[in-house]
Amino acid sequence: MSGTLSHISRTLLALGTGAALLLAGCERPPVQTTQQGFRGTAMQNTVNPRIAAADAAARPAPPADAPPAGNDGPKAGQIYQNVKVLGDLSVAEFNRHMNAVTQWVSPEQGCAYCHTSNFAEDTKYTKVVARRMIEMTQQLNSSWKQHTGATGVTCYTCHRGAPVPSQVWYQPLVPKMNKNTFIGNDFGQNKAAKTVGLTSLPYDPFSGYLAGSDEIKVYGQQALPQGIGNGKTIQHAEQTYALMMHFSKGLGQNCTFCHNSQAFSQWVPKKVTAWHGIRMERDINNTYVVPLTDAFPKDRLGPHGDVGKAYCATCHQGQNKPLGGKEMAKLYEGLLGAAPVALMPPPQADAKGSVLYFGVGSHDLAPEQGKGLETLLGALGSNPRSVVLVSGYHSAAGEKAANEELAKKRALAVRDALLAAGVAPARVKLDKPQQTEANVAGEDPASRRVEVRLQ
Ligand code: HEC
Ligand code: HEC
Ligand code: HEC
Ligand code: HEC
Repeated sequence: MSGTLSHISRTLLALGTGAALLLAGCERPPVQTTQQGFRGTAMQNTVNPRIAAADAAARPAPPADAPPAGNDGPKAGQIYQNVKVLGDLSVAEFNRHMNAVTQWVSPEQGCAYCHTSNFAEDTKYTKVVARRMIEMTQQLNSSWKQHTGATGVTCYTCHRGAPVPSQVWYQPLVPKMNKNTFIGNDFGQNKAAKTVGLTSLPYDPFSGYLAGSDEIKVYGQQALPQGIGNGKTIQHAEQTYALMMHFSKGLGQNCTFCHNSQAFSQWVPKKVTAWHGIRMERDINNTYVVPLTDAFPKDRLGPHGDVGKAYCATCHQGQNKPLGGKEMAKLYEGLLGAAPVALMPPPQADAKGSVLYFGVGSHDLAPEQGKGLETLLGALGSNPRSVVLVSGYHSAAGEKAANEELAKKRALAVRDALLAAGVAPARVKLDKPQQTEANVAGEDPASRRVEVRLQ
């Protein structure tokens, strides 16, 4: 009898241990669910507060923000020599931005990560990349506000205190098809890749969807296949699901965060935000990051010679709002991308000629500067045999070749304005680009000019 009992208890113990082992992979409660969508759509978000708290504690806090320095006093564009994007900030505010950028991107390397001892020089590729990244961040906070909202984006959103963001993707190496082995072509899948949640789904859904413009939708609009079906293949559906795995992992959310799972094609608010995010991502990669490829040293590029590109995880890093929705960007005016205020003297004009001014790095003839041609146009009208000589000037700061190109484009912009006003092309002569004296005191607005002389 006792033998039977002990046998039973041994069996129970074994079962219990087995169950405990089996359950060890499960999550310990509590589990909280919050309803996301309309009632009955099964759109709950499932969170374990214990794990969420540990996760939040493990995330380093962003560096403290120095208070804004105000916009009084001379502008950076007037004082410094080679400021092309942030020229409208006051010098104090510009320096606050430089300090913040250093904290966000290169806290260990410091200013020297982008600068040589001559701060105006563009010799380091990191400075060239950083300037374009400032323009990109402005674009993300202005044109893509539908996605970036009140949280906004700073360099820290992606970089988190490192020169190279930890979450970037490259085109993967695809093994060549080998007829002599059983392996054959993997058709870009069955690799249990981390980027797609260790599934066997295609491991590069990004090239087509986030750096191209492939159609993501796969659902047919009719109940039964019509003709050749809805034009979507199983491979296409697998690509879409692979991308969706990244969305889920990148934001640390279930599919139901964005979808009503009984109708994935239905539009619900978070899915709309995500839709804008996809288009924004294409803009980041296609307009900014990929065109910078040549600026990078070869050893910084991926196996296909491609630069590290952004995806959802680059900003989100496992959270539904990057940095838990901390509104950092609004403290940095230079990153918000408000319309730049041009720092230009009024045009000079008399019957003998005109002097027209341009913005930093710009060859657009501003309308108020174009007005400076009116007197000259009158003189050309009353003196039909006269011609004009157009000369573009540039400052001594920065690269000579790029500056000459800029001076030429400025001269062409003025020529176009003259032609548009009805002057015959034969009466407009272009002079070669002129360099002004080196200006050690900083970027002089007077050097960004075009002179037009009546001859
Ligand atoms: C991640 C790159 C990066 C880091 C780090 C950085 N800068 Fe800059 N810096 C730039 C860029 C880009 C510009 C040009 C901005 C523009 O064109 O609007 C610039 C311009 C400047 C200029 C203007 C120079 C001139 O005459 O044209 C000064 C001064 C400057 N930085 C100071 C600093 C200081 C001081 C630090 C360290 C606290 C620093 N920067 C850190 C990227 C950087
Ligand atoms: C949307 C994300 C994103 C934002 C925002 C962003 N960057 Fe980047 N940054 C990238 C990516 C992606 C790369 C390329 C990474 C690679 O090649 O691995 C990069 C590369 C760089 C590099 C070159 C680093 C190196 O060592 O090669 C610099 C410098 C840089 N960024 C500066 C900045 C600055 C300054 C800002 C803010 C004004 C900024 N970035 C904002 C995504 C971002
Ligand atoms: C962050 C929001 C988000 C998450 C999380 C997400 N999706 Fe999506 N999903 C979208 C968006 C946006 C689209 C539409 C893309 C487009 O049309 O460009 C989409 C499209 C789809 C489609 C195609 C629907 C159609 O109309 O053909 C399917 C299927 C899908 N998702 C499945 C999933 C699955 C499965 C998961 C979880 C693994 C998931 N999604 C997670 C945002 C999300
Ligand atoms: C440049 C950084 C950046 C990238 C890249 C990015 N996002 Fe976002 N996303 C944000 C910011 C910032 C917010 C917070 C907006 C706000 O405050 O309302 C956000 C919010 C969202 C939200 C709404 C979250 C909520 O709780 O309301 C969704 C959904 C989302 N992103 C999906 C995506 C998807 C999908 C991708 C990739 C295709 C993506 N995001 C790429 C910056 C980014």
